[in-house]
Amino acid sequence: MTSISRSEFPRLVTPDPQTARPILKLEGLGKRFGDIQILKSIDFQMASGEVVAIIGPSGSGKSTLLRCINQLEPPTEGILTVGNLSLDARVSATKDQLAQLNRKLGMVFQSFNLFPHLTVLENVSLAQCRVLKRSKVEADERSMMLLERVGLASKAHMYPSRCSGGQQQRIAISRALALDPEIMLFDEPTSALDPEVGLEVLAVMRELADEGMTMIVVTHEMHFAESVSDRVVVMADGVIVEEGRSEEVMRNPSHPRVQKFLTAVRDR
Ligand SMILES: Nc1ncnc2c1ncn2[C@@H]1O[C@H](COP(=O)(O)OP(=O)(O)OP(=O)(O)O)[C@@H](O)[C@H]1O
Ligand SMILES: [Mg+2]
Repeated sequence: MTSISRSEFPRLVTPDPQTARPILKLEGLGKRFGDIQILKSIDFQMASGEVVAIIGPSGSGKSTLLRCINQLEPPTEGILTVGNLSLDARVSATKDQLAQLNRKLGMVFQSFNLFPHLTVLENVSLAQCRVLKRSKVEADERSMMLLERVGLASKAHMYPSRCSGGQQQRIAISRALALDPEIMLFDEPTSALDPEVGLEVLAVMRELADEGMTMIVVTHEMHFAESVSDRVVVMADGVIVEEGRSEEVMRNPSHPRVQKFLTAVRDR
C-alpha cells in the first residue's frame, strides 16, 4: 500500500513559524455573511516550507478561511499578508493586487474543477499561457513534466471524464503547481474519493511536502494531519481553538472541544 507518512529522512531545516519571516500572516481576520459572523478574528502565521493541516467539525469555517486567504470570499475584517503583499479588509483590493495574490497561491478543491471540454494537457497548460504568458510549447513542456511526476503522462491527450477521480485530482494538483505558487491551499482534496484512490493523491501531497512546498491542507485525513503536516490547527465555531506541533495536538490535545472532536473522528 502507498505510504503517506513523511519520508524517513526529514528535511534538514524545519521552519520555525515564530522566528522565520512569515510567508502568510492573518491578523484579526473575520468573515461575516449578512448578520452571521462565520470567522472571528483569526490570528495565524506560517513560515515558508511549513505544512499546516486544518481540521475541525463541519461548519467550523475551514473552507471559508481558505476562501478568504485567496479572496474567493473577501474577508470583512482584518489584514491578510502573503509575502510582501498586504490586504486590509477595510479597503477594496485592486485588480492588480488580486492578480498578484493569485500568482502566489495555488488552490486544489474537493471537486477537482477541471474543464471537461479540454484535454488533460490543455487543462494544465491553459492558465500558464493566459496568466504567465508562457508560449504553448513552453507550457506544454512544463505540463508534461508535472504530469509525468504525478504518474499521468499517458493521460495527457485524454479528456478528464476518461480519468478516475484520483487521477483527476492529481491533474488538478499539476495544474495548480504549473503556475509556480508560493503556497498551495488544499480543501479536502481526498474527501470525494474512495479511500484507496485517496492514497494516491495523499502520496503526491506527501512528496510535495518533502520537497519543501508551503502547504495548508484542510483535511479529514487524521493520519495525514498527524504524520505529514508540521503543525495542526483545529477550528471550531469560526475560531482557532488549538494549534501546535502535529503529534502533540493529535495525541494529546488540551482543549476539551478538540478532545471531543478527535474522539468522535477516531470512533467513526
Ligand atoms: N456564501 C455563504 N453564505 C452564507 N453562509 C455561508 C456561506 N459559505 C459558508 N457559509 C456558512 O459558514 C459556515 C462555515 O462554512 P465552511 O464551509 O467554511 O465550513 P467547513 O468547516 O469547511 O465545513 P465542512 O467540514 O463541512 O466542509 C457554515 O455555517 C456555512 O453555512
Ligand atoms: Mg469545507
